[in-house]
Amino acid sequence: MASLPYIVGNWKMNGTRASLSEARAIDRGAARLPKVQVAIAPPATLLHRTREAVELIGIGGQDCHAKDSGAFTGDTSAAMLKDAGADFTIVGHSERRTLHGETDADVRAKAEAALGAGLAVILCVGETEGERDAGNAESVVGGQLEGSCPHSDGAVDKLTVAYEPVWAIGTGRVPSVDDVAAMHKAIRAKLVSIYGEAGAGVRILYGGSVKAENASELLSIRDVGGALVGGASLTAESFLAIVGAAAALEDN
Ligand code: PGA
Repeated sequence: MASLPYIVGNWKMNGTRASLSEARAIDRGAARLPKVQVAIAPPATLLHRTREAVELIGIGGQDCHAKDSGAFTGDTSAAMLKDAGADFTIVGHSERRTLHGETDADVRAKAEAALGAGLAVILCVGETEGERDAGNAESVVGGQLEGSCPHSDGAVDKLTVAYEPVWAIGTGRVPSVDDVAAMHKAIRAKLVSIYGEAGAGVRILYGGSVKAENASELLSIRDVGGALVGGASLTAESFLAIVGAAAALEDN
């Protein structure tokens, strides 16, 4: 695919103002690696300051509410993320699906709200270990895509999908190259069935225990258009090592 590899850091519930120095360092490092598109999703409390601290990299939220405003204590709307300087938001992360009981319909509503607020969307899907062991990984992920992909006008142009096997997140375990390749192929086919030919252009990221040591191998797999990185995105050093691996592949 012609688009640049996209490496996104998901800081989850990590980071205070002291972390802005990491964001600045990531931004400076990304400027030296122009063949890679780089973004981070800091906690919502840091979005505005991060926007002011960086020049080049994208900034995004980790979740949003489906409504623009209202009596939803503790929630953050897509319009608020946009106002704080976000370019995109993640939706449907497995930690939201599992710990907050989010359904595919909830995730779709959030994705539509984000698009409506002018944000791009990174939509996460992925199977549990039990689902993979039972041979159901592709059907589970396909069902998540059917149920949570947004359908509003132009949605496909602002959509990125992140395949994150739940059992690989934060565990140090990653699927085999063949399993990642098979899943990304299946996701591609599903996106084409949902969106028609436009689905062929949607970037599909891999996420789950991506590190500098495995980044080249994972990013070389066909239809892997980048990575969604959790733990290894928290320091500029470990995150830029992954960005550097992506850049080296582009140079070859
Ligand atoms: P991890 O998290 O890189 O720490 O496994 C990835 C994610 O949850 O997006």
